[in-house]
Formats: sequence, C-alpha cells, structure tokens
Amino acid sequence: MNALLLAGGMGTRLRPLTDHMPKPMALVGNRPWLEHLVLQLKNQGFSDFVMAVQYYSEQIRNYFGDGSKWGVRIRYAVEHTLRGTAGAIKNAEPYLDDRFVVVNADIVQEADLADLLEFHRMRGGLVTIGLTEVEDPSHYGVIEQDGEDRIIRFVEKPRRDEAPSNRINAGIYVMEKQSLQYIPDHREVSIERETFPLLIKENAGVYGKVISGYWMDMGTKERYRAIHWDLLNRVCRLPLDGEERGSGIWIGDRSEIAPGALLIPPVLIGNGCKIGERSIVGPFAVLGDNCEIGKGVRCSETIMWDNCTAHDAVHLNNCILGYGLEVGSRQIMHEAVMNRMEAKEA
Ligand code: GTP
Repeated sequence: MNALLLAGGMGTRLRPLTDHMPKPMALVGNRPWLEHLVLQLKNQGFSDFVMAVQYYSEQIRNYFGDGSKWGVRIRYAVEHTLRGTAGAIKNAEPYLDDRFVVVNADIVQEADLADLLEFHRMRGGLVTIGLTEVEDPSHYGVIEQDGEDRIIRFVEKPRRDEAPSNRINAGIYVMEKQSLQYIPDHREVSIERETFPLLIKENAGVYGKVISGYWMDMGTKERYRAIHWDLLNRVCRLPLDGEERGSGIWIGDRSEIAPGALLIPPVLIGNGCKIGERSIVGPFAVLGDNCEIGKGVRCSETIMWDNCTAHDAVHLNNCILGYGLEVGSRQIMHEAVMNRMEAKEA
C-alpha cells in the first residue's frame, strides 16, 4: 500500500517563510518536516511514496530524488496548476494502489497508521478520516458522527457552543481507489469542502477515527513556533539531532560555545555553530547549522534556519529567521519573521 503526501500548496499563511519554498520543506527542529514525515512513515512500514507537488515542486524533487537515499521509493505527481487537496489526489491516480494512505504534508503528527488501517478494514468504508480532538474547534471543520463512527456531517468553523463535537479532520486518510470516481478531473477540487461532503451525501461509507499522539498543523507562524516549543519540551517526540548536554540542551557537531556564553534550556543548536562571549541563548531557541552568534547577543524564543548570523549585541525575541540571514550589530528585533528576497537552497 502506498502513501500519498500532499505537498503542493502555496503555504500563504506561513509567508514570508514560504515565499520561495513549499511549506512542508520548512525546517522543524533543523530538518525539513517532509523528511521527518518520510522517515516516520518508513518506520511504520511504508516504502512506496507518491508526492503530490506543484508550488516550488523542483525543490522537493531535488531534495528527495527517487528516495533511495532514505531507502524508499518516491514518485512525483506534478500538477501544472494547483488542483486543490482532492484534485491533487485525482491527479496522482495512476500511481496509487487499490487502497492508499493520504497525508497532508504540513501537519506535524506522530499518528499510528496501523491502528487507522485496522479500523478502516473493520468498517469497510471507502474512506476513513483520521480525527484529532482540539480544545477550541471554532477555527476548523468539525465532525459529527453516528454511533457506528460513520461521519454524518461537517460543520465548517462553528461557534464554540454550536460545535457538534471537538473532533476535527486531522488531514490523514485511508482511501479506497474507488472513491476517486467522486472527484472530477482537470479542475480544482477541495477534499474538505467538496469530496467528503459528496461522499457523505451519497452514503458511500466515510468513517472517522481519533488518532493518538502529537498533532499540530504548521499552517501559521504561531503554530510553527508552537511546534518548536513542543519539540524542545519533548511534548512532540520527533528525533532531535545533536548530543544532549545537560537537560534540554542539544548541540550538534563542531559547534563552539565561547566561555562565558550561556545556554538556557531548552535549546537546540545545529552543527558548526559559533556562539560568542557573553551571549545568552535560550530559553526556547533553535539555531540551524552554521549559525554565528556574536558577542553579547540575547536570543530567546527564536528559530533560525541554517547559515544565519547575529552580530554583536543583537537582541532577538520571538523571531523566525529564514536561511542565511544576517542581523547587524545592536539591532533589537521582537516577533520578526524574515526571509530573503530570492530563493535559497539550504
Ligand atoms: P495556505 O495557503 O496557507 O492555506 O496553505 P496550503 O494551501 O499550502 O495548505 P493547506 O493547509 O490548505 O493544505 C493542506 C496540505 O495540502 C498542505 O500540505 C498543502 O501543501 C497541500 N495542498 C493544498 N492544496 C494543494 C494542491 O492544490 N495541490 C497539492 N499537490 N497539494 C496541495
């Protein structure tokens, strides 16, 4: 059974980080999330992947190639223009097995797919939607089920007191290939707004099962940050590269911390970083590979991608810096999210 990863969207809400890259390639703990996802699914027994790509598709293709570096097979279903979440699945039809798994590639999660597959087999529907329970469902499409776990209704962004449940679509599906006949060809189709409601109306067998484990979509900057803090707190258990030196301090290879610099946990430092004298990094800081922090810098609640430089006496709080940015000395930045003008490979 293959896994289809939906990775073609424009990620507009995560701009400017996604100005020149697909959202699933955004770093999560110093590694593109899409790579974590491939490895995680590989650990669950998947070896055959299809990536549905469009926006900056060449970056994904160049990074993963045929997948052999990761010990898996990866093929690409490229859309000429964006087809939407269901249109992308339809476009990938020639590559898909009779039963397949679809995963939104912008959701950081640790779902156990064996459970979902077993549930799908038992219920025998055309589609099983992985569900997650959230405290405030008012920003999401909320699900109503009958006593047999069949989904009977989606309520889009209900008021909190009118939500039929706190269960939402987790962006992970098990699908039978027959369900693709409900998706029109050659146009943009949304799975949430069009295909699932149609399948429900036709009584085609759409079931929902709550998945276990961490779940957070990285669609907005706030959630992108939150994922990192969860990662550093180990609420999210994705592997972190680097050696754990002291509780909550991870440091990569060849990184130099000057005497007199202070790391306040939790902190993740990539490979080949330099941190100057009297600088204080953390709590909640993630530095990508080859970042340079000058002297007397203050850096907290901040995520830097690879090859960034913060010169002497810079203060950074609650910032996200894309690849290769440089912050001049004595700058004070609070809640800045920055990227370069042009596309930059990692
Ligand atoms: P926003 O523009 O911020 O809404 O982000 P998005 O459209 O990239 O993501 P959204 O949350 O709407 O989509 C969920 C997942 O489906 C993401 O992983 C997207 O990359 C992917 N996706 C969305 N639309 C398409 C599409 O038209 N084609 C493909 N191949 N993937 C898509």
